[in-house]
Amino acid sequence: RNHWKKEEENQWGCHLQSPVSIRELLIFNTSYLEPPPDGYENVTGIVPPYNAFSAQGTPEGDLIYVNYARTEDFFKLEREMNINCSGKIVIARYGKIFRGNKVKNAMLAGAIGIILYSDPADYFAPAVQPYPKGWNLPGTAAQRGNVLNLNGAGDPLTPGYPAKEYTFRLDVKEGVGIPKIPVHPIGYNDAEILLRHMGGTAPPDDSWKGSLNVNYNIGPGFAGHGSFRMHVHNINRITRIYNVIGTIRGSVEPDRYVILGGHRDSWVFGGIDPTSGAAVLQEVAQSFGKLRSGGWRPRRTIIFASWDAEEFGLLGSTEWAEENVKILQERSVAYINSDSSIEGNYTLRVDCTPLLYQLVYKLTKEISSPDDGFESKSLYESWLEKDPSFENINFPRINKLGSGSDFEAYFQRLGIASGRARYTKNRKTDTYSSYPLYHTIYETFELVENFYDPTFKKQLSVAQLRGALVYELADSEIIPFNIEDYAKALKNYATSIYNLSKKHDQQLRDHGVSFDSLFSAVKNFSDAASDFHRRLTQVDLNNPIAVRIMNDQLMLLERAFIDPLGLPGRRFYRHIIFAPSSHNKYAGESFPGIYDALFDVENKEDSRSAWREVKKHLSIAAFTIQAAAGTLTEVL
Ligand SMILES: *[C@@H]1O[C@H](CO)[C@@H](O)[C@H](O)[C@H]1NC(C)=O
Ligand SMILES: *[C@@H]1O[C@H](CO)[C@@H](O)[C@H](O)[C@H]1NC(C)=O
Ligand SMILES: *[C@@H]1O[C@H](CO)[C@@H](O)[C@H](O)[C@H]1NC(C)=O
Ligand SMILES: *[C@@H]1O[C@H](CO)[C@@H](O)[C@H](O)[C@H]1NC(C)=O
Ligand SMILES: *[C@@H]1O[C@H](CO)[C@@H](O)[C@H](O)[C@H]1NC(C)=O
Ligand SMILES: [Zn+2]
Repeated sequence: RNHWKKEEENQWGCHLQSPVSIRELLIFNTSYLEPPPDGYENVTGIVPPYNAFSAQGTPEGDLIYVNYARTEDFFKLEREMNINCSGKIVIARYGKIFRGNKVKNAMLAGAIGIILYSDPADYFAPAVQPYPKGWNLPGTAAQRGNVLNLNGAGDPLTPGYPAKEYTFRLDVKEGVGIPKIPVHPIGYNDAEILLRHMGGTAPPDDSWKGSLNVNYNIGPGFAGHGSFRMHVHNINRITRIYNVIGTIRGSVEPDRYVILGGHRDSWVFGGIDPTSGAAVLQEVAQSFGKLRSGGWRPRRTIIFASWDAEEFGLLGSTEWAEENVKILQERSVAYINSDSSIEGNYTLRVDCTPLLYQLVYKLTKEISSPDDGFESKSLYESWLEKDPSFENINFPRINKLGSGSDFEAYFQRLGIASGRARYTKNRKTDTYSSYPLYHTIYETFELVENFYDPTFKKQLSVAQLRGALVYELADSEIIPFNIEDYAKALKNYATSIYNLSKKHDQQLRDHGVSFDSLFSAVKNFSDAASDFHRRLTQVDLNNPIAVRIMNDQLMLLERAFIDPLGLPGRRFYRHIIFAPSSHNKYAGESFPGIYDALFDVENKEDSRSAWREVKKHLSIAAFTIQAAAGTLTEVL
């Protein structure tokens, strides 16, 4: 009793309706608020930890611990351990995948509620103090965030169309990707108390254990007596959001756009997310403004976009893309994202279309490294040394675009060449997810100033790279895209999905599945890319029509990978080469149609129809690549 009482007093004597409770003989309520950091005690209007778009409700039942609530975690429970989550409340640790995927998986498993908590194994770096002494997660903090499964739809009530006054709106109960069950986030102090009481089955192996001092029993239910109830009373409201758009008209090709966009909304103080990126957007806009006052204009139009409501499902950026879809798909050369510019202070991280690889290499060679021990070296040199590519250690790693920020509608739906760059942690040694204080009240300016980037040099490097990308894309006579790198990437992705399929060698033969047309299309694309590249080096720069013809081919190549019908069940993910993973929105998947069909081969009862689906997606990929190659051949 005393223990519980103390917990309550730690919440500064507030008697607020708490969202989660265990009822034993007495009641333990989880915390409603995070204690504010020093100096922020009087700040009002702080939104308590919650998961946006959670359903309302007071489900009650046994708890089941489901590890990270990944697809494979539920497979383990259902298929190997015979544990049925139907009618139960599940508790999952944050990390590894996007939280919306966890909620979807819990719903599919039949859960009636889901608690998300931050385990120190995933949000506490060894030998670092919790905030405010260090950048680690205190036990009182909880990660906010939306739990939608929008698959690129934007405003859940207006999928496909801008949310104007006159726009038809779905009922909330029909809204795209809105969970049907209550969801709530808690910190590890509270989670430890819940998990300590768990009874039932032991965890299957160490990969199910976090680093709390509990045995990570799976349940169902507490050992002995006790029940668990959630109280979630979220209110969904339709409200106005504000995007701020600025433009610099291009001098030669005003009808060609290069977009720099990033969000401005934050969960609480937004010290890292988004302010370390929103500040970059402001600084880049100001620098271009200075060039403008000196009389300069870029060759192409530059659009600066400060998005609203990113945290609620990329809403500002997606609605603006929907409103302007016709001109954007006709006129956009590239989209560069400007969300958080740091998630660590170790080295650069870039995710972009293969078209931009060469430009990123060239520009990082021209920017000074901000890293200790790399004085007078370039950003490229420190990046290459710290994070060489797995495929070719002579180049730094560049990742595939997934989602999780505002480039999504531009790349995955419209097929506009896109990229993002930020400073990141050491992927080999720093195994925690994102950064420990992500989306908590402790993400303050002081967090950045005292720990992540005291000299602001890392953020400066990121600003220089984002700004230089925009500058070169907007001002180079020939759009600085490299198509041969796309050909190489396609070959690599095709080989890797083929390798994946070889797990089912016999079935490939039984069902007559062939990758020949895919490899043929990739070969044809490579030939067309080499030929295009050769002709590009010979183009007559004094002939503006000839230049414009080739620039249009460059601009529209990414668009050629768009299938207007979209991916199965995900009509706003239309890029055939890349999509956010169906199991983790944050990660990029190559040949997502084929990948998901192969995944189903292992998990569907009817293998004949599953293999037919694989064949269908192989043919869609082959056709799309062949058709894209066709756009590169010399114009008749
Ligand atoms: C838990 O919350 C309920 C509902 O707000 C409240 O009535 C109860 O006193 C709280 N109990 C404890 C031990 O904090
Ligand atoms: C908060 O308000 C109290 C009472 O007005 C005041 O004494 C205190 O200095 C304020 N704290 C901060 C950090 O502003
Ligand atoms: C899980 O439990 C639900 C409800 O009790 C039941 O309908 C369902 O068939 C069970 N699933 C399995 C795989 O046993
Ligand atoms: C595919 O498998 C081959 C043979 O095992 C291997 O050499 C190659 O590196 C793999 N390629 C990819 C992209 O996975
Ligand atoms: C690739 O090009 C060859 C030669 O033009 C053609 O025969 C083949 O059908 C093309 N491949 C695909 C998948 O269209
Ligand atoms: Zn953000």
